[in-house]
Amino acid sequence: MGIENRVCLITGSASGMGKQTGRRMAERGAKIVINDVVAEKVADTVAEFKKDGFEVIGKVADITKKEAVVQMVNEIIEVYGGVDILVNNAGVDRTAALRKLSEDDWEITVNVSLKGAFLCSQAVHGHMVEKNHGRIINIASRAWLGGPGQAPYSSAKAGLVGLTRTLALELGRSGVTSNCIAPGLIHTPMWDEAPEKTKLMLLSKQPTGTLGDVDDIANAVMFFADDEASFITGQVFYVCGGRSLFSG
Ligand SMILES: NC(=O)c1ccc[n+]([C@@H]2O[C@H](COP(=O)([O-])OP(=O)(O)OC[C@H]3O[C@@H](n4cnc5c(N)ncnc54)[C@H](O)[C@@H]3O)[C@@H](O)[C@H]2O)c1
Repeated sequence: MGIENRVCLITGSASGMGKQTGRRMAERGAKIVINDVVAEKVADTVAEFKKDGFEVIGKVADITKKEAVVQMVNEIIEVYGGVDILVNNAGVDRTAALRKLSEDDWEITVNVSLKGAFLCSQAVHGHMVEKNHGRIINIASRAWLGGPGQAPYSSAKAGLVGLTRTLALELGRSGVTSNCIAPGLIHTPMWDEAPEKTKLMLLSKQPTGTLGDVDDIANAVMFFADDEASFITGQVFYVCGGRSLFSG
């Protein structure tokens, strides 16, 4: 039971909540695969985890490219025999008014969050089905409900909710669950860099009046990743201090 010895691939995990989720899962005895598109960050994270005695390997790959994803998963299979837990965490947010958004803003945002999750799920699911066990956990956002200036981001995350539900239906009889976490405001470097006025405005809309922490997301991922969570699938789980209760 738990996640001990489970092989866990977390995309975009050389930073932020993906990295903290990797750390927390490693503390519970999971074998972690750090993936990111930035090679230097992958090397630093792997070195840091190894220093702490964790079982970890790093894979530099752009998850928007099918060839890179297939190669990464094949290499993981060579080392660990497969992937038991996939966390589709990598994401990019290009926020601007509709008239200011470029085609590039749309493509990078939708491709990293949505196409990347599709490609990674496709690449790992065969092994999960064979083992009759698997966990796919998608990191969406409360913004999938809609947000001004967030046309690509909200669309990408809404698509991820659709992917989550579809995989739950398609893989349910194979012991593979598919769930989605929708974080709200989480304390990351991006928050620290935001203007004071923006921070006050955002906090005023929080029912809790507080920000979430990267550990709040790691805890939610571990809940869905656990062997005991086998009867929970196709769900969207908000970790947002109650902010999903109203729009605007
Ligand atoms: N930070 C928040 O408040 C917040 C709120 C809601 C949802 N989210 C979502 O949570 C997830 C993690 O957010 P974070 O704040 O920790 O982000 P972050 O920017 O700290 O980390 C994301 C990582 O993804 C990597 N990445 C980008 N493109 C990639 C690609 N093509 N292939 C592989 N890796 C790639 C980046 O290099 C980066 O290291 C994202 O999906 C984000 O949309 C974040």
